[in-house]
Amino acid sequence: MTESTHCELDLSPRFRDAMAAFPSGVTIMTTADRSGRPWGFTASSFCSLSLDPPLVLVCLARTARCHPAFYQSDDWSIQIVAPRHLALVTRFATSGADKFAGGEFTPDDRGVPVLPDAPVTLTCAAHARYHGGDHSILVARVQDVTLLDDRPLLYFRRTFQPLACPRDVTASGEDR
Ligand SMILES: Cc1cc2nc3c(=O)[nH]c(=O)nc-3n(C[C@H](O)[C@H](O)[C@H](O)COP(=O)(O)O)c2cc1C
Repeated sequence: MTESTHCELDLSPRFRDAMAAFPSGVTIMTTADRSGRPWGFTASSFCSLSLDPPLVLVCLARTARCHPAFYQSDDWSIQIVAPRHLALVTRFATSGADKFAGGEFTPDDRGVPVLPDAPVTLTCAAHARYHGGDHSILVARVQDVTLLDDRPLLYFRRTFQPLACPRDVTASGEDR
C-alpha cells in the first residue's frame, strides 16, 4: 500500500489533519442538570441525521466535564453561531471554564440556556445516546427551530472564518 492510503505507525496526526480539512459550521450545545446548573460545549461534530423524525447528532468526548449532564437531562439546545460569537465559542471550547459567566444565555421554558441572537437555535429532546469510541453520539430530536437571517461562523483547518461572499460553483468546478 502507498503512504497515501495506509499509515501503519501512527494514524492519529494524519487522521486529525484529515478531519481538520473538512470545513464545518460551529455550534454550542447546552443543557441543564437536575440541580438546574447550566452546561455546554462548543461542537463542530453537529450534523443532520433524519428528516422524519427530525433528528440531528452531536458527538461529545466522554472525558468532557459536561458529559454526565447530557446523560442526566433529556432537554437540550443546539445553537449554530455567528462570527460575532467567537469569544463565546472559545470559552465554550475551554474545559472547565466558567462558561455562562458572561450572561449571554437565558433559560428557556425548560431551564435550558439558549443564546437569543444565534442564527439558528434547535430546541431538542434526547432521542438516543450511543458509544462511539472515545465519544458519545448524542442523537437529538428537534422540537422547535428559531432561524435568524444571519451568516454562520465556519471552522476549517483549525481556524475560524466568516462565510465569504458566497458564489455558486459551476459544473466544471470553477466558482463564478
Ligand atoms: C471548533 C471546535 C469544535 C469542537 N467540537 C467538539 C465536538 O464536536 N465534540 C467534543 O466533544 N468537543 C469538541 N470541541 C472541544 C470542546 O468544546 C471542549 O473540550 C469543551 O470545553 C469541553 O467542555 P467541558 O470539559 O468543560 O465540559 C471542540 C472545540 C473547538 C474549538
